[in-house]
Amino acid sequence: MEHDIKNPSLAEKGKKRIEWAERDMPVLAAVKEKFEREKPMSGMKMSACLHVTAETANLVRTLKAGGADIVLCASNPLSTQDDVAASLVTDYEIPVFAIKGEDKDTFFRHLNIAIKHNPIITMDDGADLVSTIHKDYPQLIENMIGSMEETTTGVIRLRAMEKDKALKIPVVAVNDAQTKNMFDNRYGTGQSTIDGIIRATDILIAGKNVVIAGYGWCGRGMAARAAGLGGHVIVTEVDPIKGLEATMDGFRVMPMIDAAKIGDLFCTLTGDINVIDQQHFEAMRDGAMVCNSGHFDVEINVNKLKEMAKEVKAGVRNFVDEYVLEDGRKIYLLGEGRLINLAAAEGHPASVMDMSFSTQALASEWVVKNKENLEPKVYDISKEIEDYVSTLKLSSMGIKIDILTKEQKNYLSSWQEGT
Ligand code: ADE
Repeated sequence: MEHDIKNPSLAEKGKKRIEWAERDMPVLAAVKEKFEREKPMSGMKMSACLHVTAETANLVRTLKAGGADIVLCASNPLSTQDDVAASLVTDYEIPVFAIKGEDKDTFFRHLNIAIKHNPIITMDDGADLVSTIHKDYPQLIENMIGSMEETTTGVIRLRAMEKDKALKIPVVAVNDAQTKNMFDNRYGTGQSTIDGIIRATDILIAGKNVVIAGYGWCGRGMAARAAGLGGHVIVTEVDPIKGLEATMDGFRVMPMIDAAKIGDLFCTLTGDINVIDQQHFEAMRDGAMVCNSGHFDVEINVNKLKEMAKEVKAGVRNFVDEYVLEDGRKIYLLGEGRLINLAAAEGHPASVMDMSFSTQALASEWVVKNKENLEPKVYDISKEIEDYVSTLKLSSMGIKIDILTKEQKNYLSSWQEGT
């Protein structure tokens, strides 16, 4: 079986990690059982471009259990867990092309190998498979039945393709499911970003001015967690409603140029480019720390920081580089400006990925079942899948909720009743 991983002998450790994550993924376990019985993906060639983590391992095992012929490549050069990749290849016979720290050429070589698998279904975290297939392998499109997208940045790219009429296959915006973004983006990113920052730097958050760029679900989650640790949270936004929301949630809101002067720790979670740029580095305090938790490494203008630095001391700690500016101020860049939660920590915990990845698996089944009727556009997750995932998750946590009475249902659906 073809593969490209760091070291197969890491498999034993990776298997333990996969099994540890599996304990906390009961909804995905239920989907896996269903897939084992029903084999909805039987014989389907699939390529997945995801962060190669223990949680992803359980997703690809589920898809394989459903009959898929699946290969996996990394969606980020720094997010691969090499031991997990080794176990997937050795213990589960799933071809993986991913090595933590791989350079850009290797990253794209791996992506291209995954595409040469000739998938009829793809699964993306950042839309790299879909956009590369559209650009470089248009001959595959005819046979493709659809794709799933895991992240906000990817959905933004795909909607832009749809708007330009460039999208030629149906895609499902898994990211936009409530069972995904309200939990994975908020609690997952909130906790794992702080985890990555602390693992990389060992700093105390209490008393620090923590500047959070972007108040979407990810920014909201991180702001809540940073405040919970005693950080003085400052939010920067471009959307007036989100700015207002952050203000009323109790945070200071100001433009980045003002926040730059007082921040101790900066984190970008916007999905846009150059959110922290030259003028911000120029204004920062000595010792400021800068990181990103958005999908691509474009939110911090790292090239500009490199140009501005008279010296760069790489690796003053793992995942921490020191940039010494002309006037002697030092700025610390964490995780090379890539997703800090996956670079320096382990990504979101399994319990929250349980919902996202159950939704991914069920969305793949939905695409297969509905393939005759789908058009080349971006689809939302069905209410049925949302209800299935949230109901099972609640019940796995031992939590019950009320059920509407007939009278209450009638009241909610009628307009005659009122005052
Ligand atoms: N994205 C964020 N956290 C993740 C994880 N643990 N596994 C896969 N993708 C992720």
